[in-house]
Amino acid sequence: MALVIDPWGAELHEDYEKIVKQFGLEVFDPSLFPEPNRLMRRRIVFAARDQKVIADCIKRKKPYYALTGIMPTADKIHFGNKMVVEQMKYFQDHGAKTYILIADLEAATTRGVTLETARTRALDFHIPAYIALGLDPKKTTFYFQSENKDVLHLAYEAAQKITLNEFKAVYGSADPSRIMAAVTQVGDILFPQLTERMPGVIPVGIDQDPHIRIARDVVARTKSAHDFIPPAGMYHKFTPSLTGELKMSKSRPTGNIDLPEDPKEACKKIVKAVSGGRKTIEEQRKLGAEVEKDMVFELLKMHLVDDDKELNKIYQDYKSGKMLTSELKQLACEKLTAFMNDFTAKLERARKHMDALTFISFH
Ligand code: TRP
Repeated sequence: MALVIDPWGAELHEDYEKIVKQFGLEVFDPSLFPEPNRLMRRRIVFAARDQKVIADCIKRKKPYYALTGIMPTADKIHFGNKMVVEQMKYFQDHGAKTYILIADLEAATTRGVTLETARTRALDFHIPAYIALGLDPKKTTFYFQSENKDVLHLAYEAAQKITLNEFKAVYGSADPSRIMAAVTQVGDILFPQLTERMPGVIPVGIDQDPHIRIARDVVARTKSAHDFIPPAGMYHKFTPSLTGELKMSKSRPTGNIDLPEDPKEACKKIVKAVSGGRKTIEEQRKLGAEVEKDMVFELLKMHLVDDDKELNKIYQDYKSGKMLTSELKQLACEKLTAFMNDFTAKLERARKHMDALTFISFH
């Protein structure tokens, strides 16, 4: 039985629906994909562009690629990065050539991170973290933007094909540094097709769609020079803040959990999280929880419980009043602690094997 639970409540649900309509996105259809992962099954991946093209490559075993970029701005990642890696892993396990780039130029131009710092951070933390989350390093091609001449040449070409007004319309603003970052990202997105013309998919949080739109526009306008295939997009929802807002964010530390984070600290935040539980135990037993409003359930659903049957049982027990809020929070704390411990152990292991990776470099 398909599990259809939408813990976002009507208002937020409508927001995501609005996005789909407003930007002309496709509603994501998990039934097109073999062995959909947790994010796909639960429609946390909710929208797409050209999903059928990618589904077709998977089913017919035709070449395609999956690509993402890492911004090395801090020694932490977040649940959004985790979702990107899970999507990348899904495609990697289903025949995609996988590319991970370090957006060192973007970090330098938009955040003032030096290229040296970006490099060190990427090698010490970000790449090992992505491997710890399941990416197979042997099957992945890595590069630094600053070392990939082809990407930079494509970026210059893209710059020629975008007007300032379009840029403003897509991004809202047009800082020179943002423009540099955006055209470089177009270079990243199209780069694998320089060696082999093939479809590609870029899994991103919905806020990153502007980059994909611009890349698709550039594809249309460089038809005679390159004949690239427009990149497909696949979009996931945000992990909501434990304090109830749409998105976890460092600006609201009590609602935010980083990767890694001390499990004890994270559990304290879970204890204080916005809950769908009732005011008293009696009421909870009688009425059951308002699961749609519960941010801890949302965390379990999005990140901590893979098995649909297990999640469904938690949902039913909590909804019927059999399970109390304190029990739900205890369960989430245990699962999160296990996840963090596993993550940090795998991170250490991955760090030891960094010399086996393949980097593209034109130095
Ligand atoms: N701009 C992305 C970020 O802020 C990083 C990035 C650079 C990227 N190039 C990319 C993401 C290509 C996807 C595809 O995280």
